[in-house]
Amino acid sequence: MDSVFKNSPLNSIPPEGISTEWRSPSNIALVKYWGKFAGQIPANPSVSLTLTHSHTTTRLSILPASRGGMQLHFKYDGKEKPDFSQRIETTLNQWAGYFPFIMNSIISVDTHNSFPHSAGIASSASAMSALALCLMDIESQLGLELRKDDFLRKASFIARLGSGSAARSVFPYASIWGYSKDIPDSSDEFGIEVPKVHSDFKQYMDTILLVDPGEKTVSSSAGHALMPQHPFASERYKQAEMHSRQILNALESGDIDTFVAITETEALTLHALMMSSNPGYILLKGNTLEIIHRIRQFREQSGIKACFTLDAGPNVHLLYPWEVKDSVMEFINRELRGFCEGGRIMVDQVGSGPEKI
Ligand code: PMV
Repeated sequence: MDSVFKNSPLNSIPPEGISTEWRSPSNIALVKYWGKFAGQIPANPSVSLTLTHSHTTTRLSILPASRGGMQLHFKYDGKEKPDFSQRIETTLNQWAGYFPFIMNSIISVDTHNSFPHSAGIASSASAMSALALCLMDIESQLGLELRKDDFLRKASFIARLGSGSAARSVFPYASIWGYSKDIPDSSDEFGIEVPKVHSDFKQYMDTILLVDPGEKTVSSSAGHALMPQHPFASERYKQAEMHSRQILNALESGDIDTFVAITETEALTLHALMMSSNPGYILLKGNTLEIIHRIRQFREQSGIKACFTLDAGPNVHLLYPWEVKDSVMEFINRELRGFCEGGRIMVDQVGSGPEKI
């Protein structure tokens, strides 16, 4: 397996260049990745659902350069964006160890997000996975043949180096990333597909309630960096490992009660860890809490097993079975939309993973 991550002797980029375009979705973690070690190694295993409509589309064109080094031309929604461009350039330079052709090339990257970036909707997961898949595809156009599962594992490995949670975006339906002795094939270096997902979860709904779609005040990187010295760190890592095993069982058997219990505990634990870091900080807003209370009340009163999760931001992901989508949408319109900025929501759903365009 290791060999697929090493760079292999490849043909050089032809004078006419190569282009490719991929669309890759975001993912929503059920068991959260929070805390990491050097080299983007996660402190605990995490488990996510792959989304469909929250995605990044990236077109990458590469031409040979006469002099060494890489030149990057980056556009976001057709416009230059120096802060993103800087991050992409740093990432590409880091990836050059695995894709040697990067070093003597002119690379144009045009990227578009279907949702607001930096709002706690894991835009880096879709962006980095789309970029990783473009480079994997260039490598295969240059002649490296990999089996489909090796292609995806290497894409996940590469994406992880760009943004940890991106490692989970390349697989259909659900993914695990991070080693646990009890989870076969699990690895800190790349994600894997959850081997057995009950059909109820393959079309699960995730409606994102945009409480505040603005940029986060504290980045995920800054939050991860506070974990190693967190007083609850070692208990937290153990809890995440246990939750990963339990949620994998629930995903396989279709046990929605366990799914709801673990998903909500994980969301609140993530934010509790942020609040109890040193320095502590709060990303939740008053409207986030109001929405959470109403979701729990709705579940109790209606018996519909809708639940919430949160990413590193104030927006709420409302998760529910496809069969009850009409009743839940009525509930959203009646009780929750008023707490969203401009009444904005994004209706998303579990999906089958990235696509080449
Ligand atoms: O991939 P990063 O470094 O942006 O970290 C993401 C962390 C969370 O979104 C909060 C949780 C997760 O597992 O996706």
